[in-house]
Order: sequence, then C-alpha cells, then structure tokens
Amino acid sequence: MDSYQITITTQDQQQLAFACRGDQTLQQGAEAENIFLPSQCGSGVCGVCTVHCQSGEFDMRDYNSEALAADAAEQGDILLCSTYPRSDLAVSTPYSYDLIHFESLAQRQAEILEIKPINDDVVALELQLLPDAEDMLSLDFEAGQFVELGIPGTDITRPYSLANAPNWDGRLAFLIQLHPQGQFSQFLRQAKVGQNISVTGAQGQFVLQESSLAPRYFVAGGTGLAPFLSMLTHMAEMMDSQTVELFIGAKHEKDLLAMEQLTALQQQLPQLKIHRCISQAEHTWQPDADEWIGAYRQSVLEVMKQTLKTAAEPVDVYVCGSPRLVNGIVEMTHTVSPESQLFYERFTTA
Ligand code: FES
Repeated sequence: MDSYQITITTQDQQQLAFACRGDQTLQQGAEAENIFLPSQCGSGVCGVCTVHCQSGEFDMRDYNSEALAADAAEQGDILLCSTYPRSDLAVSTPYSYDLIHFESLAQRQAEILEIKPINDDVVALELQLLPDAEDMLSLDFEAGQFVELGIPGTDITRPYSLANAPNWDGRLAFLIQLHPQGQFSQFLRQAKVGQNISVTGAQGQFVLQESSLAPRYFVAGGTGLAPFLSMLTHMAEMMDSQTVELFIGAKHEKDLLAMEQLTALQQQLPQLKIHRCISQAEHTWQPDADEWIGAYRQSVLEVMKQTLKTAAEPVDVYVCGSPRLVNGIVEMTHTVSPESQLFYERFTTA
C-alpha cells in the first residue's frame, strides 16, 4: 500500500509531518507516529477533528453530514478520522500547536464529590482527582476542553466538557444531560458519592482564542453552557477585560442552567452581557424591568441573527450545543457576518 507525506501547519504557523498509508485515516497515520490531534468520536460523528486541506488528493468517507456540512467540505474542510490520503497532503489546523499531544492521554481516577440534580434532565457532577504517579492532583487543561469519563468496570467512556476553570486542586465540574437510554446517564442515576470513576484527557480544540482582540459572542444550548462557564470563570480569574456576550438558548425558563453562577460571574466580569433567548417563554420582558441585560421570547438563532446584523465589527462567535443549533448558527453567521470567526463544538449522544 502506498504511503504519503502529510504536512500539518497549525494556527500559530508551527509545522509537523507524518507518513500515512492509503488504507489508514489521517488520524490513524498520525497516531501511529504518536501525534494525537484533537478528536473525539473517531467515527465521523462529532466534527472535533475538522481541519482544512490546502492541497493534495484524498478520499473522505463514512461520516455524518452533521459533523461536516456539505459547503464546508466543498471549501476543503476534512475530518481526520474519515479521510484517506491519495497523494501527499498539506493540511492546516484551526488550533495552535500546544493543543497537540505527543503521547496518548493518561487515564486518572477521580472520586465523586457531588451529583446534584439541576432539573429533570440535567445533573451537576463534581469530581476530585486522585493523585497521579507523580503525586500531583491537578489536571492540565484549557478552559473549554473536555475529558472522557468512564463507567467503572467497563470500557465505556463518554466525553464531557469541563464546567470549571483550570485549577491546582484537581477539582472537576460538569453539567451532564441525562438521556433515557444513555449508558453513562444510567450509571449516573445510581452512582454514589465517594465512588471512583476514570478520567481521561483533557483534550479538544474549543478554547479561547487568546490572540484575537475581536468581541467574543458565546452561544450556548442546554448543557453546551458548560465550556462557557469554564471560559468565563477563567476570564474572571485572569481579569480579562475583553468584550464578551453570552447568548443562552432554551425552550422554557425552567431549562435555564447555572443562573446563580452566571449572576456571580457578572459581578466579576462587569463587561459580561447575558442574553436569555427562550423560544417558548410564558411572558415577554419589559426593557430594563429585569436584572438581566437581555431576555427574549425568541430562538437564540433569531436573536444572534439580529445581533450580528447590527454588530459594528466582525466578532468571534463561539457555539456549543446540539448539531442543529451549531449548524444553524454556523450557516447564519457565514451569511450575515462572513468576516466573523467561528469556533464550535457539537454534542454527541451520551
Ligand atoms: S473525531 Fe472525527 S468526527 Fe469525531
């Protein structure tokens, strides 16, 4: 089988290269040389491994159109886990070199400190990492990244975004959507405080673009709020004064998550504006009649569209939520504000 040279240029203009056979995906070829690029499902479902092909021939197959939209594929975006080279390839990544690992991610153990129901479908999970081989408690991660949590006694793992900021104490927080048939959801329903579970990671490319000076617009659907809680907490700790607005999409007011925490974050980040977009709200809000900056009886997609239309300059749009929400915001942003930058992460099934 022919082997090809794959050259990768990262967002911060670092380069690396590896060989990949025609019967290997680019992800398999890279990992055979101990290059671990951000990925999640490994099967063309999540879109986390999206990169851009600058030149060369390839065959991309067995992927979900929700992971990579047709127009993005036409423009040259590819999924590392679904792409087989047919010539040497030059590829660019939308993330910097420091998000690439050169050894497989270590698996740690963590103790469950708290499992707190937030509503019928969402729980807040808090873990305490146990010391690693070097007696360190902390986990190396960037705000916005995710880890794989494992069900004890099985090989089953599921990816969840961290909802707290990097810390030295080994504390990890999550917002987890419960699914009726989800295996991790079933485990969580009967899990006990004090029980240990495995944690692998962190990884992912959905992180703050620290070098960009553009206003940050965060768009969250459901538990897609988790990485934004991590980013906002990190911004507050860093006293980051960059303009930031959070748009939360929900069907009903009762579906809004972490409201107390967000109110506290507004005290620490005075520039933070929060918009609640409640598509089936029971009432409308009078301007200034509410302690919140924005509350709308509209979908978050509609509110974002109006906001981007009147934005004075291109912005950085970050989106996390269902594939439907992410794809809707991506498509709308391309049309309404083509110069804005997009960063996104889609849920996969639990
Ligand atoms: S890792 Fe490639 S689509 Fe999920």
